[in-house]
Amino acid sequence: MKILITGGAGYIGSQTIIEIIENTDWEVISIDNYSNSSENTYSRIKEITGKDIKYYDVDLRNLSETESVFNENPDIEGIIHFAAFKAVGESVDNPLMYYDNNINSLNNILKCQTKFNIPSLIFSSSCSVYGNVEELPVTENSKLSKSESPYAYTKQIGEVMVDDFIKVNQGLKAISLRYFNPVGSHISGLNGELSSTKPNNLVPFITQTAIGKLDCLTVFGNDYATKDGTCIRDYIHVSDIANAHVLALQYLLTKDVEKPHDIINLGTGVGVTVLEAINAFEKVSNKKLNYKIGNRREGDVAAIYANNEKAQKILKWSPKMNLDDMMLSAWKWEQKLSENNF
Ligand code: UD1
Repeated sequence: MKILITGGAGYIGSQTIIEIIENTDWEVISIDNYSNSSENTYSRIKEITGKDIKYYDVDLRNLSETESVFNENPDIEGIIHFAAFKAVGESVDNPLMYYDNNINSLNNILKCQTKFNIPSLIFSSSCSVYGNVEELPVTENSKLSKSESPYAYTKQIGEVMVDDFIKVNQGLKAISLRYFNPVGSHISGLNGELSSTKPNNLVPFITQTAIGKLDCLTVFGNDYATKDGTCIRDYIHVSDIANAHVLALQYLLTKDVEKPHDIINLGTGVGVTVLEAINAFEKVSNKKLNYKIGNRREGDVAAIYANNEKAQKILKWSPKMNLDDMMLSAWKWEQKLSENNF
C-alpha cells in the first residue's frame, strides 16, 4: 500500500515516515518544498531505517505540480497532510503568509483526494483550535473559542474545510488530529526538529540554553494559579504522535468508521509545569540549566491539557514515552546538531 506524506522532511512528518517504515509494510512517498526543512532529512531517515524513500520537491499551492505527483502514483491509498507553517508569533506578524500557505495547500490536497479518489486523509490540527479553554482537561467536544492567532485560525478553518468536503464526497474518510505540545526527537537522537528560524517552543529553548547557543532561559511568569506558579502544558513525545498517525490511517483503511470525518486529541493527559519540565531536563542531562523567572508572555493560557480517552478508545493508542524520555531524546538531538555545527 502506498501512502503520501506531505511535509515529510519536517519535524513530525519525518518521524512519521520512520514510524511507518519501522512498523508497517507500506510504501511511503513524500512531498515537501523545504520552506522550513531540508532535503537532508531523508538521509537521516535512511540512517535510522536503512531505507531510501521517493520524494518530490513540490509546493502544494501549485495545483498542477501537486496533481503530477498523483498522476505518477495512481496507487496512493492514504494521505497524511502535515505540510503547513506553524509558528504562532510569525503568523501574527505575517497573517497572509499563513492563510496563503496553510489554506491553499489543504485546498489542493482535498481537490486531489477527490480527483484521484484517495480513500483516506489524516489532517494535522492543533490544540490551539481550542483557544482559551474554560474546562480542563480538554475533550474533543470542548467549545472552540475565538482563535488567538492566524495560525490557530488556519487550523480551525482547515478542520471545517475537511468536514464540509467529506460531507459531499461519499466514500472518502478523514481524521483531524489535534496535537498538544509535541516535543523530543527519535529515541536514537538522530532525527529531530530542524527549523530555519529561532526556536518558538519551550523544549528547544531549554536544550539550546544548555548547549550554550542561548545564554539564559526565561520562564514566562511564576504567578499563575498552578501548583508552582508556572504554566501547565501537555507535552507529548513526537514518536507517540507519529505512532498515532499510523494507527489513525490503519483505522480509516480497515474499519467501518463511526464518522467519515472524526476529530481526535493527541496528548498524554498529564499537565506539566514549566519548572517540572526544567527539572526533568536537568535530571536526565545531568546539567544545571541557566534560567530566570521573567514576565508572563502575552497570549499564554495558565493551563491546558488533553483528555485523550477518544484516542485510546477509537485508535487503541496510548502514549509510551514519559517526560524523561522526551527531555533525554531532545537533549541527544541538540548534541547531535552541535556535533554537526548547527
Ligand atoms: C505553542 C503554540 C501552540 C502550538 C504549540 C505546540 C503559542 C502561543 N502557542 O503552545 O499554538 O500548538 O506551541 O507546538 O505559541 N515558555 C517559557 N519560556 C520560553 C518558552 C516557553 O517559560 O522561553 C513556557 C510558555 O509560557 C508555556 C510553555 O513554556 O507555558 C510552553 O510554551 P511553548 O512551547 O511555546 O508552547 P505553547 O505556548 O503551549
